Amino acid sequence: MPATIIIGLQWGDEGKGKMVDHLAETVDAVARFSGGANAGHTIEADGHRIALHQLPSGLIRPDKLGIIGSSCVLDPIALSEEMELMEKEGISVADRLTISGKVHLVHPAGRYIENSEETRLGKSAVGTTGRGIGPTYVRKFMRKGIRLEDAAVPEVFLERSAAITDECIEQLGLSAELAGSLREEVEIFNRESIRLVDRAMDVSMVIARILASEGSILAEGAQGSLLDPDHGTYPFVTCSSCVAAAACVSLGIGPVLIDEVVGVMKAYSTRVGNGPFPTELTGSLGDRIREQGNEYGATTGRPRRCGWFDAVLANYTARINGSTWTAITLLDVLSGIPELKVCMKYELDPEIDLSLFETGVRLGKHIPIYETLPGWEEDIKGEREWDALPENARNYVLFIEKLTGVPIRAISTGPAREDLIWRT
Ligand code: GDP
Ligand code: IMO
Ligand code: MG
Repeated sequence: MPATIIIGLQWGDEGKGKMVDHLAETVDAVARFSGGANAGHTIEADGHRIALHQLPSGLIRPDKLGIIGSSCVLDPIALSEEMELMEKEGISVADRLTISGKVHLVHPAGRYIENSEETRLGKSAVGTTGRGIGPTYVRKFMRKGIRLEDAAVPEVFLERSAAITDECIEQLGLSAELAGSLREEVEIFNRESIRLVDRAMDVSMVIARILASEGSILAEGAQGSLLDPDHGTYPFVTCSSCVAAAACVSLGIGPVLIDEVVGVMKAYSTRVGNGPFPTELTGSLGDRIREQGNEYGATTGRPRRCGWFDAVLANYTARINGSTWTAITLLDVLSGIPELKVCMKYELDPEIDLSLFETGVRLGKHIPIYETLPGWEEDIKGEREWDALPENARNYVLFIEKLTGVPIRAISTGPAREDLIWRT
């Protein structure tokens, strides 16, 4: 598999980190291609349990290279903390990380702007992760951003950073105290950015060399397809494209080089932050799934909203990504729930145009029509054999496979690297 892309098929947190870590065994490099420190990819392996936010998940394995693509946004302060955390875990990443010089930097002012906007929106807030992601992409597309390569000329870099700081203080009318805190953060930001510039490279060239020498790469997506600004539940989305096609843009590789697209989805649905969620379970069953699945955000600790598996949306996201196979995760979490529901279609609001499949705010008005399947009692955590799964668990997987139209090759039965069933 010279070039494989892994993406999330739902609203993020599908277990991409676990699957990337697993599949990284046979590749040379893992390249993150979207988002920034809003992501939280949890890996449990080799005695570590760690959530990576910006570092590619493959770096947990000591012999893998890590690459950060140009469509990501990079928070240099958070990255340096993350690298220190890895060092404390005994994993040195210093010599194994390459970052695109074109990556836009998350200036601390972005977090202040985001916080002010979310507060202003009140009940209509997006419920962002507060990592300054939106304002950084806004700046990028207004052609006013700063990129890592800019830090190679420190005098100009410092001037631009100061101008962004001043603009933010004026725009938000920050108090002297808040302005002081921002300036302190900006000093650290400046220092860390300049320190990181040595890692800046043309990642397209790095990847081309790996592939030319018969090596292979894994492109690691962040967030999930329903958080994609084009295809997701706009405006309750993130700001970078998180579908498979975005990997080629970010990493500077042609689409013909991609031979597999792996879609990761949970055996149920979750979403963190606001926005439509047709199959959400707001009662005790939702709470039960949250507790059984430990559904709390890996980045912000927020409780995740939980609900039934939505085959309408999964079918849609499998299509927009062109996924060649699927990994289904957290199947073990459904053990003990007597009946499982799967959304087969929506009863559409009569005002909604039937010919147009909408994923915007009106998606929340659709009433899901469910099929009910029998559950299973047995604890399947850590199971590694398909034939050893209870019949109802196998039938549940096969049912979903048929609805999404894409083969389910891997079934995850626990958070650890080894908790996985392969189907041929
Ligand atoms: P990501 O953002 O897609 O990488 O997913 P997160 O790491 O944010 O969330 C997935 C959570 O589920 C993490 O806590 C994982 O350790 C955990 N996890 C992954 N696969 C499984 C599984 O099959 N079963 C259980 N019980 N937990 C899992
Ligand atoms: P991983 O990679 C789940 C959500 C936020 C919010 C919306 C916009 O771990 O799957 P942002 O801070 O990006 O501007 O927030 O997107 N969000 C995620 N939800 N997993 C993620 O990443 C997410 N990254 C962003 O909760 O609803
Ligand atoms: Mg996550």
